Amino acid sequence: MSDPRLLDRCAEVGAAAAVAAGKLLMERFRTTIAISHKTSVINLVTEMDVAAEKLIASSLLAAFPDHTVLAEESYADAARGPHTWIIDPLDGTTNYAHGFPFWAVSIGLEVEGELEWGVVHNPNLGETFTARRGGGAWLGTQRLRVSGAATLDESLLATGFPYDIRTAERNNLAYFREFALRAQAVRRAGSAALDLACVAAGRFDGFWELRLSPWDCAAGFLLVREAGGKITNFRGRPTSIYEGEVVASNGLIHDQMLEVIASTTD
Ligand code: IPD
Ligand code: CA
Ligand code: CA
Repeated sequence: MSDPRLLDRCAEVGAAAAVAAGKLLMERFRTTIAISHKTSVINLVTEMDVAAEKLIASSLLAAFPDHTVLAEESYADAARGPHTWIIDPLDGTTNYAHGFPFWAVSIGLEVEGELEWGVVHNPNLGETFTARRGGGAWLGTQRLRVSGAATLDESLLATGFPYDIRTAERNNLAYFREFALRAQAVRRAGSAALDLACVAAGRFDGFWELRLSPWDCAAGFLLVREAGGKITNFRGRPTSIYEGEVVASNGLIHDQMLEVIASTTD
């Protein structure tokens, strides 16, 4: 980004929007809310996904009227501009709907195609993860660094499953089986943005998933990269948040994860 002062301002407004949305979501968490279905019986959307997205989009567009918003609920098909905010207002909707406290607000900022800043905010634990390109990944004031696990045997991995798991041929179950047998353990906690933040924080050693959306990944990719981790597609090639296929790791176990994927037919 050409103007670091503009990025400072974006970081300030973006983080405030994530925290405000987290507060709104917490106010209604574990209360009765309206829930409907999207593409299938297991793909939920709640009134709070929509409300949180409205709050975030309106505060960002009020501060930066010439910026673009790409967001899961009402701005999913938006064309990207030079400054694009990529928002998942509630990552972990199924968890939220069940009162399971593992969900987050995720906001990333892309400037001319490059991820420059991101936040993943988990109000349940009061944790706000931020990253700035070239400026590191942070949990509050603590700088984050990926883990030092060097083998799958000592690795805690994370993954998730796509909403078309019942109908799609490639549904991640074969990979899940292999990784469950090869890793120390595998978690499916239900929020890709938090999974990626946990890789950045060294809590998870690796993460893989397929058919993710840009809003699941925008902030999380930058967090992992800025914490010294590695992100590729399933073939080990550089990937983008628009590809959907993600292997994210501490770097040390990356090739071992790719080998498991390459030797498995899903
Ligand atoms: C989902 C979560 C989940 C992942 C799914 C995502 P949502 O996002 O990140 O962990 O497995 O692929 O779609 O629908 O809760 O925002
Ligand atoms: Ca999501
Ligand atoms: Ca969501």
